[in-house]
Amino acid sequence: MTLDPVLARIDANLDAATERLLDLLRIPSISTDPAYKADCDTAADWLVEDLKSIGFEASKRPTPGHPMVVAHSGGDGPRILFYGHYDVQPVDPLDLWDNNPFEPQIQDTAKGKVIRGRGSSDDKGQLMTFVEACRAWTKIHGTLPANITIFFEGEEESGSPSLTPFMRENAAELTADIALICDTGLYGEHTPAIITQLRGLLGDEITITGPNKDLHSGMYGGLAMNPARVLAKIIASLHDEDGRITVPNFYDGVPELSNELAAAWDDLKFAEKDFLGAVGLSIPAGEKGRRPLEMIWSRPTCEVNGMTAGYTGDGFKTVLPSKASAKISFRLVGMQDPFKIREDFRKMVEAMIPADCSVSFKDHGAGPAGQMSTSDPAFAKAREALTDEFEKTAAYVGCGGSIPIAGYFKSILNMDAMLIGFGKDDDQIHSPNEKYDLSSFHKGTRSWARILHALTK
Ligand code: BES
Ligand code: MN
Ligand code: MN
Repeated sequence: MTLDPVLARIDANLDAATERLLDLLRIPSISTDPAYKADCDTAADWLVEDLKSIGFEASKRPTPGHPMVVAHSGGDGPRILFYGHYDVQPVDPLDLWDNNPFEPQIQDTAKGKVIRGRGSSDDKGQLMTFVEACRAWTKIHGTLPANITIFFEGEEESGSPSLTPFMRENAAELTADIALICDTGLYGEHTPAIITQLRGLLGDEITITGPNKDLHSGMYGGLAMNPARVLAKIIASLHDEDGRITVPNFYDGVPELSNELAAAWDDLKFAEKDFLGAVGLSIPAGEKGRRPLEMIWSRPTCEVNGMTAGYTGDGFKTVLPSKASAKISFRLVGMQDPFKIREDFRKMVEAMIPADCSVSFKDHGAGPAGQMSTSDPAFAKAREALTDEFEKTAAYVGCGGSIPIAGYFKSILNMDAMLIGFGKDDDQIHSPNEKYDLSSFHKGTRSWARILHALTK
């Protein structure tokens, strides 16, 4: 089966493909907020119908949370599983959006046309690149070049609680020769990238309680312990002067960067000044003596994602709060054990709670880091296909973000996963005014058509 007519069809039908994506983007499938449960279901239905329309045997599969979508093409050739997620992040703060997040628009910008709306880049626009590539193959050749299974999740943005049970229960159905994931980005503006490692994630929320109610800070202040003070001290102690994390045993299982990877990453000429400059910063804030790329790809982190205590509204209130809480996440690398770290972190916090206060914890999920094995011949084939499309050698890169399923393909289904995506650093994923470049959507679709061709040659 030839590739050129498939690419030509993708070019000729870009407008129709974009309209379909806009349709999907109009469905507010926010997985973390129960108010949008029905919308998550609608998004799953939409995908099932679209996949059926191009010949897949597709179904919506219930879970205790939001449904999965599984679709099979049948047919000959290598077995390929493609993964994406149809759920999106919440939109707040809504007042910082220039248009309704679920009324997507095509906009002209200085850097070209963009598709603006929640989920455009993470991950609906990206997953549709693969679907559109399949559509073009099927329309041109009447069939796909491989035996493809499509697997869409609706809980990725809320920690994937139903994922591992579903993968275990449906292992035979989901197992393939290779897994493809489209949920990452290019390297810089124009260089295609294949991810070789991505960080894991541990989320924990701590709540410290002092007095049994909010108090007048004049009447009680000085005598009564303030839990905000306790929390601030704990948070301040999580990093030392050199930016290292102080949780006991935290660095167990953190590998040193190999000389080979260090050289490869140095070749990428990462411009941290530009990367930080784009968000109004200039100074790398990680561990002393580490390369900026290590700080985002291969070193673990501890970040405060949210903190509350006392009166945070407009104006001022002299209150001594009863409670103080913080949402804290750790990005994990190498063989770091998320469950052991959670235990050590909680012990450390408990030891810092004064006798008059108490602490409680809320678990927000845990998953280890992922390491891809680039020795699978699929990597070299995909690299060549990407290089042809972008006319720039595809880079092997790390990813600082986390995609829970990436590690599970190996550990549960014993298959390699290849992560390739077309997002850009300025897509504002999880933020107001999220966008996906129309060129990402177009070249992403063309890239998958090429990769399918390369994998089946
Ligand atoms: N697509 C992202 C992962 C990602 C982030 C890839 C940045 C490339 C660059 C994914 O949807 C995501 O947001 N993952 C979450 C984890 C989840 C458990 C909430 C993350 O990394 O915070
Ligand atoms: Mn994503
Ligand atoms: Mn995301």
